[in-house]
Order: sequence, then structure tokens, then C-alpha cells
Amino acid sequence: MAGRIPQHFIDDLLARVNIIDVLDGRVQKLKRTGKNYSGLCPFHKEKTPSFTANQEKQFYYCFGCGAGGNALGFLMEYENLNFPEAVEELAKSAGMDVPKDDSPQQREKDQRLSKLYDLLSQSDQFYQEQLRSSEHRGDAVNYLKARGLTGQIAKAFGIGFAPSGWDNLLNHLGQSADQRNLLEEAGLLIHNEERDSRYDRFRNRIMFPIRDQRGRTIGFGGRVLGDDKPKYLNSPETPTFHKSRELYGLYEARKHNNKLDRLIIVEGYMDVVGLAQYGIHYAVATLGTATTAQHLERLFKLVPEVIFCFDGDSAGREAALRALKTTLPVIEDGKEARFLFLPEGEDPDSLVRQEGAEAFSERLSSSLPLSEFFFKSYSENADLDSMDGRARFSTEVLPAINSMKPSLLQQMMLDRICDLTHLSLEQIQTTVNFHQAVQPQTSSSTNASAPAADSNDNSPGYYDDYQPAEPDYPDYAVDFYESADAQPSNRPSYTNKKQGFSRRSGGNAPRNTELNFSQKLIALLLHYPQLAHEFQLPDGLEQSLDADLKILSQLVVYYKQHPKASLGQLVVDWREDEQLSNTIVSLYEISTSLEIHSEADAREYLTDAQTSLNRKALESEISTLQKKHSLSQEEKLLLVQKMQQLHQVKTTSKA
Ligand code: CTP
Ligand code: MN
Repeated sequence: MAGRIPQHFIDDLLARVNIIDVLDGRVQKLKRTGKNYSGLCPFHKEKTPSFTANQEKQFYYCFGCGAGGNALGFLMEYENLNFPEAVEELAKSAGMDVPKDDSPQQREKDQRLSKLYDLLSQSDQFYQEQLRSSEHRGDAVNYLKARGLTGQIAKAFGIGFAPSGWDNLLNHLGQSADQRNLLEEAGLLIHNEERDSRYDRFRNRIMFPIRDQRGRTIGFGGRVLGDDKPKYLNSPETPTFHKSRELYGLYEARKHNNKLDRLIIVEGYMDVVGLAQYGIHYAVATLGTATTAQHLERLFKLVPEVIFCFDGDSAGREAALRALKTTLPVIEDGKEARFLFLPEGEDPDSLVRQEGAEAFSERLSSSLPLSEFFFKSYSENADLDSMDGRARFSTEVLPAINSMKPSLLQQMMLDRICDLTHLSLEQIQTTVNFHQAVQPQTSSSTNASAPAADSNDNSPGYYDDYQPAEPDYPDYAVDFYESADAQPSNRPSYTNKKQGFSRRSGGNAPRNTELNFSQKLIALLLHYPQLAHEFQLPDGLEQSLDADLKILSQLVVYYKQHPKASLGQLVVDWREDEQLSNTIVSLYEISTSLEIHSEADAREYLTDAQTSLNRKALESEISTLQKKHSLSQEEKLLLVQKMQQLHQVKTTSKA
């Protein structure tokens, strides 16, 4: 395995290759359109091009699905490569040799990880082999037969068998102390501390290998043959296996069809396998956890439609409500989430065996769209005939709607709420802060036929597009005060958010009305990294640190250390955090439609923002102190000090 690749080589490589050459042949209908190139996005299905690339900035971005990055990121995603592999590939195309960074620590780390994958693969083979030939295979085979599984489907999913006994795998693969350590790290052996001995985690179980996007086995689920507890045992979190990210069956579904239209999320391994056996090859299961936003973001990158499948009992309905709340901040126009409730006592596996694939597909088609399920569940116990009931309904429903990305769907759901509550949009607005969705819209900033990103001559500047709510606050300060408190989600809320917007405006870049206070600052720093050293996120904002503000603070730290870093460099340095890099690229792209006239303008904006942040920090510290029951002498002094400072800030910012 290669060691860590030196940064200077990566910089050099990226400087030498042209992203357009990399895209050429991989992106269909790639052609030049003004300053940019456009084509059909290879990462989602589309008929009209929403994929763009910019030669000057050396990165690509898709307005349809939000995929974006530099040449390396593209190769990683397109060719399913990891980072070193993508570097290797790109270097080859540029005729360069990748130097090996042979720092011993790095080499050891890489080696260890590749050994883990290796052992997982060998264990996978071992379990499958046991199903074919171990002397106790009879029980396992009978069990699978009794459950109606064909040999063919068992093979497609690599189903295996861990025989009973404490040391089958241990004896097979744990020859050396090092191997045994690795097996433990891979979650396959358990360490008994008292006796300082190790034993097999999976015993007398049907084994379901869990594979990552590239088909490598990263963990297992094991089901007992009988009624023992626990029914299912999963691999623990390991360096290769992360439950909140991985989905059982996704690799197999994509292998079967790599241009999927929809995916179903079911609860169990057997549901995925059972549905596949009946020809429904697009089910995935979470791994004994609730569906996370990460799961959903990943799925929506692949398909436009995700259907949740739940049991018809009360636990199922509760799980559905949880899934709904996870989905709201993720959903965007062009993507659809649906909810399917099965008859009580059935799961997808039992149902598809009972009524066949066609009937099951019909259920899928008649599943509830997100908005319907939303109103059904929220209005179920509401008394919409009384004023008090409607008020109560509003207070429950509005925060949920506010957690959504700005989208047509959100607007339509708001309209529906207006109908149900007899409130006007303005009334709702004054109660709940829809800072992004229902801002009073000026014709210049939201005109649906506004000019495209390249001709942004009459796009609003930083200052033009916000209506100050209170005269003595800078407008963006109001924006900040509100957004910091009203952001319920602690995940970035704008990854891929531009989709709905671009649909409506025919592929135009979104306007900066979509960026909140922190996002604007991020965008600004991406254009003027050199200003980072003049900016300081004040202490005392811990209470209001929303996701955006956290990114901002990381960005400030980063640029202080690397004042000359390009966007490509930043994306490379932050590559470990896919979401973070994507977010940054999206913001950069959005912000190309902003007009920042000069560094001086940017600096002025930043200075004002700094002032309002300082003020917010002071207010927050003051309110914390004021809320305390009794203050020490020092705290009283501090309070007075802070109040004086606040007074000072207020008077200077008014001047
Ligand atoms: N699960 C788990 N640990 C358990 C029970 C369940 O991790 N002790 C997870 C498994 O991923 C399982 C899913 O929850 O596949 C659904 O569990 P359950 O509904 O109890 O089982 P089924 O999927 O119906 O399994 P089977 O049909 O094999 O009985
Ligand atoms: Mn079942």
C-alpha cells in the first residue's frame, strides 16, 4: 500500500491537469457554454444538462443533484475510487509518478486498514464456505429453505453460516497474535479481559455480509437459527463499519441496476433479501438503527424517490414519524419521499411471499407522499374546528415546516397550513421566522426568469436584498439573530439546496437571498480568504452555534493557517468530511451569483458582521448571567462590564 501522498504533489498534479480533459468522455454531451462547460450529469438521471464545469476554477458542480468538487473528487465518485487511487489514476493520465510518502506511521495505518478489509473478506469467504460444506450446515440450510430462500439469492447476497462453537473463525484466521488483534478490531472476535482470551463473536448464526459502495465487506449481521436472543447481532462500529452511514443491500441494488429510479428503506436484512428474490431489487435496510440524515442524503444522491416501509403497528407509526422529521430538512424539489404502512403483523419479507411482487409494487405506488403523511399525522389529534385547536396545531406544525429547505414543496405545505388554520402567510411569518422561505420577495432578487449565473450584472449586492426589520440593526444582524435561534437542525441546511431554485429558474444560479448570515460570511471568505485573519468569532456564542456558524469557525481557522489556499486545496484538505467539502463547493458556486465589488466591500461587510456577532455574543453572555439565581462578586462585576461593552458596541454601530 502507498503511504500518504505528499500535499505538494497533489497541488502540482491538480495544477497540471485540466478538469475538462477528465470530464471529456465521462460526461455526456459535454460542451462549452460561455465561460462554463455543461453536460448531462453522470451522478443522477437527467435529460437536460444541469452539470457544469469551470475550467478557470477547475471544478465541477451539478445543479440537479448538488455533486461537486475538483478533478480528484470527480474521479473518486465516477470511478468509485478512494483518494489515493484517484490520485494514482489522475497522475497516470498526466504522465506523472506518484511519490510515496513513506512516513512509518502512515504506512502502518494504511497497512492496518487494508489488512482489516482483507480479513473481513476472508471471514466472508469462510462463512459462505461453512454454509456449503461444514458438517453442521444442515441446520442452516434447512433454516434458509424453511424461510423460502433460493440458493441463487443466498449467493447474490453472499449469505453464509457461522457454526456453533467459540473458536471456528479464531482457529481459521487467528494464527498470530497480530491476526487476532486485527480480528478483534474488525469486530469478529471478542476479548475476554478476565481470562485474556478471545472468542468468535458470531456463533450458530446465518451471516449477512454488509458491503460498502465498492462491494468490500465491512461488517456482518448474524441471525440466530432458532429463537435465542438477540435475534440479530451486528458488527460493532469499527474503522471500516459505520452504522449511521451504511445501508444493507445498497451495493447489491446498484450492482443489479446502476441507474435506479427509486429505493425502499425497510427494517431488516430478510426484507431486503426476500424482496430481491421476488424481483424487487431496490430495497435497502438500516442496520438496527433509525434512518439518519446521512443515510437519506446518500440515497437521494442516487435516486429521486425514497420510500420508507413501516409495520402497521404503533411502533411502526412512531418510527415513521421519526423518519418524517429526519426527512424534512433533507428533502428538496425534484426529490420525493413516500411512506408505506404494511398491515399489522406483516413485514415486507412476509408480505411479498404471501401476495407476490405485483401486489407489493401496487402498495408501493399507492404509498403516502411525504406531505400527505405529514398532514395526516399532525392533524390526526388536532381540533381544527376550534380556534384554540388551530393555534395549537400551528405551533406544532410550523417549526417542522421551518426545518425544511426552501422549496416549492415547503411553499405548498405552507399554503395548506394557511387553509387549515385560517391564518395568512403574513401572520404566520410574524409568529414563526421563515427567514428563508417566505421572505418578502423583491422582484429583483427572486424573479424566476432572472439572468443566468454568468451574467450576474443586475443581481443584488450584499446589501440590497434584505429588508431591515428594525431600523437600528444592520439588516444581516437581524437575519443572524433570527436564524441562529430558529435553526432547529444542527446539520448544514443548504447542501444541494439550490435544486428547487434552479428548476424554477431554468438552471440559473440561485440568488443570495438563499444564504443566511453565516452562509454569506462563509461564501465571502471563500472568495477573500486573505480576510480571515481580520476576523474573529467571539467567545460566548456557544449557545447559538448553528451548523453554519461552526463551519464558519472552522473555515476561519483553516484560512488563518493557509491564507493562500485555493478552493481545490480546501476541498482536498477537507476530503475526509464529504459533507463539509460538498457544502463548501455548493456555497462557493451559489456565491458566484453574488456581487462583491471589491475586497474593500468585502472587508466592510465582514467588519459589520463582526460587530453584530460581538454584540450577539455579549447579549448571550449577559442573559446567561442574568438568568443565574445568585451572582458572585466577580460575576456581578463581569455583568456590569459586559453591559458597558454592549452599550459601547451599540452606540458605535449606530454611528
Ligand atoms: N435487529 C437488530 N437486533 C435485534 C433485532 C433486530 O439489529 N435484536 C434489526 C435487524 O437489522 C433486523 C431488523 O432489526 O433485520 C428487523 O428486526 P425484526 O423485525 O425483529 O426481524 P425481521 O427482520 O422480521 O427478521 P426475521 O424475519 O428474520 O425474523
Ligand atoms: Mn421478518
